[in-house]
Amino acid sequence: MIRLGVLISGSGSNLQAIIDAIAEGRLDASIELVVSSRPDAYGIERAKQAGIPTLALNKESYADPLAADTLISGELEKANVDYVVMAGYMRMVRGPLLQAFPDRIINIHPALLPSFPGAHGIADAFAAGVKITGVTVHLASEIYDEGPIIAQRAVEICEDDTLESLEQRIHSVEHQLYPQVLQLIAQGRVRVDESGVVRIRED
Ligand code: GRF
Repeated sequence: MIRLGVLISGSGSNLQAIIDAIAEGRLDASIELVVSSRPDAYGIERAKQAGIPTLALNKESYADPLAADTLISGELEKANVDYVVMAGYMRMVRGPLLQAFPDRIINIHPALLPSFPGAHGIADAFAAGVKITGVTVHLASEIYDEGPIIAQRAVEICEDDTLESLEQRIHSVEHQLYPQVLQLIAQGRVRVDESGVVRIRED
């Protein structure tokens, strides 16, 4: 059983997938706190409906980004979380958070990193005309969308795909993959080796 803090900025569909996986017994975890970088994120509603405490920040909170991350890491530590899960969180995580949770901050990205990092991973892959894109779950580092990769799933881009149809498939893969990876972590099967590569113990 692991205690999670979840960082969001938007609709929170990945947060919902994690809430559902916990409720259905597919993920041995609890969500102790949801932090939103935006006060109007729909994910805050999802958290409230699930009875999860929330902390909503705004633009002003990030005027000093290090102070913001000090505040966030303090709240996560107070809530006694083991892992921090970024789920559509559109801010960098900086020193104070990374130091408080070394190798314990996880991010999901809607492309096969290191290809197509940044805020528009799906659209950028679609526009580039690649035939395979996908989803990456990785440990966060000081560099946005970088850090040791835990898991990836490929998603084929078909001739008749539109950006919208591709987005739908990518999101449904995200919603399956993220809880699965978190369950591997809950089972203690994920570690980072001496060379910084993630190893997953087979059962
Ligand atoms: C997801 O595609 C995630 O990979 C990306 O932002 C999106 C967030 O969606 N970083 P949601 O807020 O979880 O619905």
